[in-house]
Amino acid sequence: MYLTKIRDITAKELKLPVSDVTISVPAWFTDVQRRAMIDAGEIAGLKVLRLINDTTATALGYGITKLDLPGPEEKPRRVMFVDIGYSDYTASIVEFRKGELNVKATACDRHFGGRNFDKALTEHFADEFKEKFKIDVRSNPKAWSRTLAAAEKMKKVLSANPAAPMSIESLMEDVDVRAIVKREELEVMVKPLLERITVPLEQVLAEAKLTIDDIDSIEMVGGCTRVPAVKDAVAKFFGKGLSFTLNQDEAIARGCAFSCAILSPVFRVRDFSVHDIVNYPIEFTWEQSADIPDEDTSLTVFNRGNVMPSTKILTFYRKQPFDLEARYAKPEMLPGKINPWVGRFSVKGVKADANDDFMICKLKARLNLHGILNVESGYYVEDMEVEEPVPEENENGEVSFPFP
Ligand SMILES: Nc1ncnc2c1ncn2[C@@H]1O[C@H](COP(=O)(O)OP(=O)(O)OP(=O)(O)O)[C@@H](O)[C@H]1O
Ligand SMILES: [Mg+2]
Repeated sequence: MYLTKIRDITAKELKLPVSDVTISVPAWFTDVQRRAMIDAGEIAGLKVLRLINDTTATALGYGITKLDLPGPEEKPRRVMFVDIGYSDYTASIVEFRKGELNVKATACDRHFGGRNFDKALTEHFADEFKEKFKIDVRSNPKAWSRTLAAAEKMKKVLSANPAAPMSIESLMEDVDVRAIVKREELEVMVKPLLERITVPLEQVLAEAKLTIDDIDSIEMVGGCTRVPAVKDAVAKFFGKGLSFTLNQDEAIARGCAFSCAILSPVFRVRDFSVHDIVNYPIEFTWEQSADIPDEDTSLTVFNRGNVMPSTKILTFYRKQPFDLEARYAKPEMLPGKINPWVGRFSVKGVKADANDDFMICKLKARLNLHGILNVESGYYVEDMEVEEPVPEENENGEVSFPFP
């Protein structure tokens, strides 16, 4: 429904039917979430040319129009993208050279964003209203949500002003409420939150094996990076100024538009390759072959940080059909209670050859452009022994071929 609405709005604006799209998703989306997003696109009558990670889309929008990127042999330009939105905080380090970008590392705090600020303010008002006006908004969902909406508005005002008022008429039990909050007061309320701000920044630097000095610029996007205390905390961590050259609200959509234009045959766009990385390691497991008792039964095929898209060839020696399973190797990294199981693949048509020897089965495991795993094709390599005539040498050193 949501995608259909977006499709209709876009078609109306462009005065053209819309079919091909690039959709951005958080970098922490798993295989099943990505498949669901593609299915949702199809149900809405859209052809999803690519799912792209949010900050990768931002990076594409940033890089594709830059004419001063280093050449292929030069030191790349390293940019840290910091995106803090409503519920989610992502930091990515991306290296740029002419015509390409490489994501080096991505770290997320899935529970950090504007809504945490709104909640802290609302909790403050709930206490204040109880004391001053003798009403308990925690006991009344409607009053709570009206307070929450007023808190969000107030938070935005406080980004540009030292103090902000709020008043809600007849909040509950016919009581009108009013309050004033200063920016410093808000900053005290969200202090525990602000203390978490450096965590993803430290993580992403450690994963990319880089230091603050290696980062050439820090690009801030997402609505919550308008909060002065957030800006200050990030700037303090880096010890240098932040860049706000991208449109904070539209940077991802702009990157998606470029990505879609690159993939669509309808547009001509400057070549720009995008290399993302695997965020969750994937391992394959299989049943041991009865004929090979010392065979391993699992292997991490895609490691965290592997370039994506990526294809790996797995080789098995088998005399019978067999199955293999793919799962996320580190379930504790996955969001919520997502099942680490990714898929089961059956390899059919396997049999021993005429000499009762193993068939060599080669399987192509591919993490595609969308970050979705498939075992694309299996093929069998048959070892054939061909007898060839061997030249015979006489005592004079002459070579002759035996009569066939
Ligand atoms: N001027 C402002 N000052 C403070 N916060 C703001 C301001 N403008 C927007 N926000 C907050 O930014 C958040 C929305 O940001 P954004 O649009 O980047 O989120 P999103 O991309 O929809 O969410 P997410 O990335 O978490 O899925 C909201 O919490 C909103 O209150
Ligand atoms: Mg966002």
